[in-house]
Amino acid sequence: MLKAYADHWGLITGASSGIGSEFARQLAGRGMHLVLVARREDRLVQLAGELQVAHGTKCEIIVADLSQDGAARSLLDEVERRGIEIELLVNNAGVGLVSEVDDTDVERVARMLHLNIMTLTELTITVVQQMLKRGHGGVINLGSVVSFQPVGYMGVYAASKAFVLHFSEALWGECRSRGVTITALCPGTTKTEFFDNSGTPGWAEQHRSQDARTVVRTGLAAFDKRKSYVVSGWINYLLSLAVRLAPRATAVKGSMSVCKPQKK
Ligand SMILES: NC(=O)c1ccc[n+]([C@@H]2O[C@H](COP(=O)([O-])OP(=O)(O)OC[C@H]3O[C@@H](n4cnc5c(N)ncnc54)[C@H](OP(=O)(O)O)[C@@H]3O)[C@@H](O)[C@H]2O)c1
Repeated sequence: MLKAYADHWGLITGASSGIGSEFARQLAGRGMHLVLVARREDRLVQLAGELQVAHGTKCEIIVADLSQDGAARSLLDEVERRGIEIELLVNNAGVGLVSEVDDTDVERVARMLHLNIMTLTELTITVVQQMLKRGHGGVINLGSVVSFQPVGYMGVYAASKAFVLHFSEALWGECRSRGVTITALCPGTTKTEFFDNSGTPGWAEQHRSQDARTVVRTGLAAFDKRKSYVVSGWINYLLSLAVRLAPRATAVKGSMSVCKPQKK
């Protein structure tokens, strides 16, 4: 569990847009100082300025491409060099890909897996080891409603989010009696830049979706209650249960009718 939000440091990956920016706003509102990480420096500088004016928050910016080998180690070395102790890690940076297998770019898949799985795992384990020594701290990892099922045309992304959920829940079990908590936040469709970058622009507008503010509020409320995971939105929650009861082949076929990519 966190010692406190106020005057302690949170690190947010993927803070330059969407859910990550909203985490920064809500955590700054709780008095947290923040390390903001992403590739787009201009966005981070703008956000840091906004938070400093609104909440008096200290912000450190680290520009990093977290899909590269060694990115997690370099990031944590830089955090240490700046003398910062992380009380809350939000592993939010992530990308998706909707594509038929025939058209799938293997290089792009490898970078996605590195970002969604490898960097998240390395950051989590290293930071949790430090937190366990101190006896306090927490991690929020971004899963998804697709963490609960295989999804046709989005197979790699959905499987990467299944990893995030299982890994986070397992670690929650190991750490819960030692003062450190881990929560997997599993949103459904959320209005951010995610779909523009995943090969399905306009998706969030065409489907029932939540806003990032609601998703982050849900995540922080669950984290405060030390829940191992939370699905944002009750319809998404019911869906996450339904796919566990349905035959697995039915769940896959159902997902394919929803996620089929449009041919250009
Ligand atoms: N939107 C949804 O419907 C939805 C649903 C379920 C789960 N999620 C999850 O929520 C998380 C946040 O996504 P979002 O919806 O807020 O999408 P978003 O607006 O596209 O934000 C993604 C963030 O990740 C950062 N990022 C991407 N590639 C990166 C890289 N190689 N290195 C460092 N940072 C990188 C981006 O920053 P830069 O481009 O500046 O690097 C950006 O800040 C993701 O993990 C996503 O899988 C989203």
